Amino acid sequence: MPAHTVPAAPPVWPRIRRHLLVVVAAVLLTLGAATPATAAPAESTHADGKGLRDLAARSGLDFGNAIDTDALAGEPAYRALVAREFSSLTAENVMKWETVEPSPGVDDFAAADVLLAFAKEHGQTVRGHTLLWHNQLPTWITPEMSPAELRQILKRHVFTVVEHFEGRLTAWDAVNEPFNEDGTWRETMWFNALGPGYIADVLRWAHEADPDVKLYLNDFNIEGLNPKSDAMYALVQDLQAQGIPIHGVGVQGHLSIEYPYPEGVTENLQRFADLGLEVAITEADVRMLLPATPEKLATHAQYFDQLLRSCLAVPACINYTVWGVSDAHSWVPGVFEGEGAATLFDENLQPKPSYEALAATLAEQWPQRK
Ligand code: XIL
Repeated sequence: MPAHTVPAAPPVWPRIRRHLLVVVAAVLLTLGAATPATAAPAESTHADGKGLRDLAARSGLDFGNAIDTDALAGEPAYRALVAREFSSLTAENVMKWETVEPSPGVDDFAAADVLLAFAKEHGQTVRGHTLLWHNQLPTWITPEMSPAELRQILKRHVFTVVEHFEGRLTAWDAVNEPFNEDGTWRETMWFNALGPGYIADVLRWAHEADPDVKLYLNDFNIEGLNPKSDAMYALVQDLQAQGIPIHGVGVQGHLSIEYPYPEGVTENLQRFADLGLEVAITEADVRMLLPATPEKLATHAQYFDQLLRSCLAVPACINYTVWGVSDAHSWVPGVFEGEGAATLFDENLQPKPSYEALAATLAEQWPQRK
């Protein structure tokens, strides 16, 4: 099962409403089919050509997205939208271990380097994602390897990858998703072989390989105050007490309108900031049970907007990154059955109410960030 699966609440809709929606959807689809295929490319969203990146820059915030490098190569409208809207890019997949070292000692940075070239051309920064995670590992790494061997290949991986990208990234998600929901350690092959010290090792090695790149710990369901974010807080304090380099905490921001909005988000971001860290929203998306309705899209916009307002309220929150450029490119439908519509742009790359809500919030004055 995917790591992000949380028990799904049963659909609460009256049946009749669902039937009505099917009819409305069918009518809309028929109307849609009548419009020319060339209608309304993403470039036409704003006459002034400005995007979220320009609005965010006024408050010293980077506004990012997770980039599907296949879409970047093959879809001109996707490229145009990414160039216009985002100032920070994260590789959705192509910096993960399975991609960068498909066989032992054989490196492949080709796709990631294409992303970096695009970012340079468009004046965008890039976040590294991720040095160590329990998913998307190459198949040649197995839990049967000895702890000494695992530690050795981990060290080689961290040095090789961080050195390859040296000077070209603002930050690395050095370790991704180290905790369970109750704040206990996730028992990954790394934890089982090496104990919790694997986190300090990765941070030390990465810092040695590139002393300038910011090192983050990143996890989901640590938006608000809860046992999991408490565990992250305690880990950061412990690392700092030992003098281990740690510069930021990444709050992924995978939310669902099926669940209440998390409590204490601003306070939580602020407590990490008070430790002297940067914080970032690294993977924001807000999923819903399909089909989307105007009501659901309004709640969707509210969740995205509350998260942005918390980030803007904490000057140490320097980046707000959405996970997936459009609903056509989002990971959600492939992982959460019956769910989707999780991003700011619909399947035709048209902005949703959430986009308008974020644009309006970014256009407000945020004097505490000056
Ligand atoms: C996801 C990608 O979006 C998918 O394309 C891929 O198949 C699986 O990984 N948390 C993370 C991200 O840190 O790396 C994950 O990305 C989504 C959850």
